[in-house]
Amino acid sequence: MDDIRDILNSNLIVPVVILDRVEDTAPLCEALLQGGIQAIEITLRTEAAMAAIGEAARRFPDMTVGAGTLLNADQVKQVMDLGAKFGVSPGSTPALLDAVSTNEFPFLPGGSTMSEFMALAEASFVVQKFFPAGPAGGPAFLRSVASPLADISFYPTGGINADNAADYLSLPNVIAVGGSWFVSADRIRDGGWAQITNDTRDIVKRFSNAKNC
Ligand code: 3PG
Repeated sequence: MDDIRDILNSNLIVPVVILDRVEDTAPLCEALLQGGIQAIEITLRTEAAMAAIGEAARRFPDMTVGAGTLLNADQVKQVMDLGAKFGVSPGSTPALLDAVSTNEFPFLPGGSTMSEFMALAEASFVVQKFFPAGPAGGPAFLRSVASPLADISFYPTGGINADNAADYLSLPNVIAVGGSWFVSADRIRDGGWAQITNDTRDIVKRFSNAKNC
């Protein structure tokens, strides 16, 4: 299983999705793959989410399918069994950290304060989700964190869009960003696959060199 750092190093922009219908999974994955994105975070916020993770992992073995909004240890076991390659949580609890560590599951625990970042690093999680990125302080906050907590890398999500993604990606402590701006629940519900492919292509083109500038 890939290390979470390797996964994010190869996937600079991760679409964070809310899927209401399992049948939208395959066309969405196809639209993203055609646009040049190989990773997806399917959040556990709907009835369909577990089945969607299974469907994505089964039908698109080359895609890096992640499970988002993991809130407890049972969910960790379930998504691993379904084939998820990484997990993401908006925060963290001792039980959750214990479950992912025991199962050696690549994981991004969430934090939004200095003390949370430090506690997670102490528990050996040095790649973390910064959430909710915009309301919690945005790129300016993360820039200030880089010097005192130089060994921690972040995956910011929450309020990322085409206008501010470059501000985050230009920071040395940001490894990748996630967001729903080009794969909103409405867009998925409307089945706008061609538009999602076009937007994905534009995003990939626009940000492909963001970490090398
Ligand atoms: C997440 O869980 O990472 C967020 O819901 C994604 O945030 P966004 O919808 O503001 O991009």
